Amino acid sequence: MTQTFKAIRGIDDGGVRGRCVDMAVDALDAGEVLIRVDYSGINYKDALAVTGRARIVTRAPCNIGIEAAGIVASSSADDFRPGDAVIVHGFGLGMRHDGGFAQYVRVPAAWVVKLPAGLTTRAAATLGVAGVTAATAVAALEEAGVRPADGEVLVTGASGGCGGLAVEILARKGYRVVAQTRSPAKRAWLTTLGAAETQLASEVADSGRPLETARFAGVVDSIGGQGLSWALRSTRENGAVATYGNAAGNDFATSVLPFILRGIRLIGINGNLPMPRRLATWARLGSDLAAPVFSAAAREIRLDDAIAFCNDMIEGRTSGRTLIAMQA
Ligand SMILES: NC(=O)c1ccc[n+]([C@@H]2O[C@H](COP(=O)([O-])OP(=O)(O)OC[C@H]3O[C@@H](n4cnc5c(N)ncnc54)[C@H](OP(=O)(O)O)[C@@H]3O)[C@@H](O)[C@H]2O)c1
Repeated sequence: MTQTFKAIRGIDDGGVRGRCVDMAVDALDAGEVLIRVDYSGINYKDALAVTGRARIVTRAPCNIGIEAAGIVASSSADDFRPGDAVIVHGFGLGMRHDGGFAQYVRVPAAWVVKLPAGLTTRAAATLGVAGVTAATAVAALEEAGVRPADGEVLVTGASGGCGGLAVEILARKGYRVVAQTRSPAKRAWLTTLGAAETQLASEVADSGRPLETARFAGVVDSIGGQGLSWALRSTRENGAVATYGNAAGNDFATSVLPFILRGIRLIGINGNLPMPRRLATWARLGSDLAAPVFSAAAREIRLDDAIAFCNDMIEGRTSGRTLIAMQA
């Protein structure tokens, strides 16, 4: 197809950063499925790629954007037909394979998730990698046997994308959620998402002892660092802590006591799931792990405005979930 379209492409001109380009569909990286992109969620990683602040694009030139939700335009794979609503993320999309900040992407069929009935491309894009990660963390607590009747569940970094989704998903499942944030201004939003209680990170009483008062039946952790250390020490007997983030740092201190005296399980979450688990998670995001309040609050911008938006994101001037409406 010689048709041209718009994209934000990572180009190396003494440092890889994003440029708005027109390109031909024929020039896209190879794959069985060509997708006309409706929406692409903007992640911090994308902002790093667009601004060149970190080496996210490892094979320039390459279209940026680690997620894309849209409609199949053509497919040589039996599993997909034109008109199917799909989402694709991970597998190096937007890093070493032409990504989602583009009106078209072409990918191997093995990367593509057909959206479950009831999930529009916009709703799926509001969730994206953050939705899959938060849902996987909630599922990990469920699999560890943490039930709503067992007690409160703490979510750290709660006003972030993953954290906010975890708050809403857990609350809708009947858990009593304690949402921890550094920001007093975010407390009202967290209550809207369903938090029963909000807790300021600055007011956490961390004694530094090997065990704190046992409070939480489960924890969803976005931040790592000292916050994860305190959460582990504050988890009740046989509770579970699911961690996917490092917003506060990669390192955390612990002793063995939460594990050997309280039987706590620490579960690592990688949202880049293998395909069978990925399909099952998307099916649940369209049903019992839905987050309609979070999704409805997402904002849209045009592709032409995405580079400026990414600069603002890096400078900390943005909040909430923002989508590029790719065909606007
Ligand atoms: N393992 C995986 O597969 C996977 C997938 C997606 C994301 N992640 C990671 O998970 C984390 C959350 O991702 P996200 O998309 O939700 O990011 P995000 O939207 O930037 O949210 C992170 C939240 O953490 C808190 N935070 C930020 N900096 C902090 C600091 N220095 N100390 C303490 N808290 C801080 C903030 O919440 P408050 O203002 O409410 O405190 C912030 O909103 C990130 O570290 C990200 O890299 C991992």
